[in-house]
Amino acid sequence: MATHKLLLLPGDGIGPEVMREVEKIVGWFAKNGVGFETETDLVGGSAYDAHGAAISEAAMVRAQDADAVLFGAVGGPKWDGVPYAVRPEAGLLRLRKDLGLFANLRPAICYPALADASSLKREVVEGLDIMIVRELTGGVYFGEPKEIVTLEDGSQRAVDTQLYTTAEIERITRVAFDLARKRRNKVSSAEKSNVMKSGVLWRQIVSRLHKAEGSDLQLEHVLADNCAMQLVRNPKQFDVIVTDNLFGDILSDIAAMLTGSLGMLPSASLGAEDPKSGTRKALYEPVHGSAPDIAGKGLANPIAMIGSFGMALRYSFGLVEAADLLEKAIANVLASGTRTKDIAAPGANAVGTQDVGDAIVKELSALS
Ligand code: IPM
Ligand code: MN
Repeated sequence: MATHKLLLLPGDGIGPEVMREVEKIVGWFAKNGVGFETETDLVGGSAYDAHGAAISEAAMVRAQDADAVLFGAVGGPKWDGVPYAVRPEAGLLRLRKDLGLFANLRPAICYPALADASSLKREVVEGLDIMIVRELTGGVYFGEPKEIVTLEDGSQRAVDTQLYTTAEIERITRVAFDLARKRRNKVSSAEKSNVMKSGVLWRQIVSRLHKAEGSDLQLEHVLADNCAMQLVRNPKQFDVIVTDNLFGDILSDIAAMLTGSLGMLPSASLGAEDPKSGTRKALYEPVHGSAPDIAGKGLANPIAMIGSFGMALRYSFGLVEAADLLEKAIANVLASGTRTKDIAAPGANAVGTQDVGDAIVKELSALS
């Protein structure tokens, strides 16, 4: 019997309010034959307030034990002054590192109904469907040394370390190749081999792996800065983009805006497959942050969070039909005009966070 153990980590800011909408969806699936065992815990600033750490050891144990973690968002001005080691973001980074979640999948899909919500022209984004594969446990986010040192003259020097190994590049490239095979068979690898040694190695390894294992796919190398420009110039040229941790962070924010709003982009962070069980550790989170400016006002768009649960259905639980159903329900609700302010059509009335969750639940029933 497959267990469906979910750990919910709503976090800070708009995290709790968008997570509440996911709970409605989880509730709907439970009533319709797909039950989940859910637990909830603290992460980020809320965990710091309760435990003095960005995530407690007990929550880490629960995360290790869950089939999938659903993560809201962390951070906010309230915690601007807390020590660096326990800042809210440290909770998320620890989850990624300790669970070995090296592959971050960030799909950017522009629903037809939303093509006008993007800051780009309709014809540039309409029908867009790209997948950014971001390396998530290496690079400058985790490389050592990472420090600020005081020099003899009293001034300071800060250092972060960009570091990648053959194995790290190979495993993320394989993820990109596998995804491209289920899509349009094209992989664009983004790095800065014109200035960075890590980029030189990245390009070499990706090329080598392409020859050895991916000759059925089209591969192109693109400099990360050019990739950013191409994403806003002609994003539909891309299928799968594979890139490092920092470039992936930046390129995925750009991609989010192509879809109409940062409130639309879900993501999946996956670990390596366990050879015995065939399962992977996984965490699902919206690409948007905690948006403290609108937190608690019922204005947040819950679709990125709900879409992240959809990705959990697909990637962690193999519930492809349920995932398709949820995506269809989201698309229909968007088309019906039930939208939060960030994506409302010009002149149309925007609805609140809860209205969108309720509408998706209703649409799930209507569709099934
Ligand atoms: C993201 C976020 C995180 C990151 C922050 C919150 C640490 O921006 O998931 O994209 O930089 O990875
Ligand atoms: Mn980011």
